[in-house]
Amino acid sequence: MNILVTGCAGFIGSSLVDFLLLHDHKIIGIDNFDPFYPKEIKQKNLSNALKNPSFTFYQLNISNGLSVIAEKIDVVIHMAAKAGVRPSIENPLGYIETNIHGTQEVLNFMKERGIKKLVFASSSSVYGNNKKIPFSESDPVDNPISPYASTKKSAELLTYTYHHLYKIDVINLRFFTVYGPRQRPDLAIYKFVRKILNDEEIILFGDGKSARDYTFIDDILTGVYNAMNYSIDHTNIFETVNLGNNLPVKLNDLVSLLGEITGKKIISQNTGMQPGDVDITYADISRAQTLFHYKPAVTIKEGLKKFVEWYTVTVHDHPV
Ligand SMILES: NC(=O)c1ccc[n+]([C@@H]2O[C@H](COP(=O)([O-])OP(=O)(O)OC[C@H]3O[C@@H](n4cnc5c(N)ncnc54)[C@H](O)[C@@H]3O)[C@@H](O)[C@H]2O)c1
Repeated sequence: MNILVTGCAGFIGSSLVDFLLLHDHKIIGIDNFDPFYPKEIKQKNLSNALKNPSFTFYQLNISNGLSVIAEKIDVVIHMAAKAGVRPSIENPLGYIETNIHGTQEVLNFMKERGIKKLVFASSSSVYGNNKKIPFSESDPVDNPISPYASTKKSAELLTYTYHHLYKIDVINLRFFTVYGPRQRPDLAIYKFVRKILNDEEIILFGDGKSARDYTFIDDILTGVYNAMNYSIDHTNIFETVNLGNNLPVKLNDLVSLLGEITGKKIISQNTGMQPGDVDITYADISRAQTLFHYKPAVTIKEGLKKFVEWYTVTVHDHPV
């Protein structure tokens, strides 16, 4: 199958490209090397794929349209986005430009080429400060608390409109705090590990009791792959599905685990919660289990060990 992956040089996108290439698909990847974090990291993420003749790369900005893509496409996996909650408060227009306008361009491209299958990377952030846990896809998502969350919800609405108008089969996947090798350097686990290994102080936002449903990258990749195959096997579908771990971990427990894994003493200071941050994320994953047998398998301890190993070998000892 010919699969278009947008945002193919990022953390999840590049991991997905490598995973799909192992499953004998032909991948067309696009990315504009958005300067949110260094281009060199993204080029390193793509280095294996670029050696593979089944991979074709276009450096382009989705907001400028995708018409230069020459290949026939069977499925689109739309990962390109400006990610991150806090920076979206500083630059809401940039997030609207990429996450809403850019998604509209992806949908225009699908309509024009008659492509009928879309898997879209949405986010648990759409749940805002949902009081009911675990978060279920049927919960209201009308109160996003950051521009990032608003753009992801808006993009979910756009995918519905294109499903309705042009019979595009859509699966909106709401990812819950994804971590693992290649993780974005702005994310907490990455920043903590860098500082802990350098014996530096880490800053903990809030009292340490906030919790995240950390989901290891390999579980997300299997989830995306299963969702894509479900979409191939079904017609006239529009599904919104959580991909989480169903086991929130408190910030204090995460930091203790990192101390245990690195063998380092944790030096930390608490400060106030950041605007846009939610207290807890917690995925009800029963819909993903029912639809496409999603079953996360990597525990937080195993996942953090893998992350620390990767970070030590790839980043700490060999910075780009
Ligand atoms: N990492 C997480 O925990 C998480 C959680 C929920 C949702 N998501 C979503 O998953 C997707 C991937 O996230 P990630 O963590 O890998 O982020 P990332 O920043 O590593 O990857 C996004 C990629 O999109 C590219 N991109 C940005 N703007 C673009 C544009 N205009 N045109 C083309 N490419 C563009 C970037 O250069 C980057 O390589 C995003 O849509 C994100 O919102 C991620």
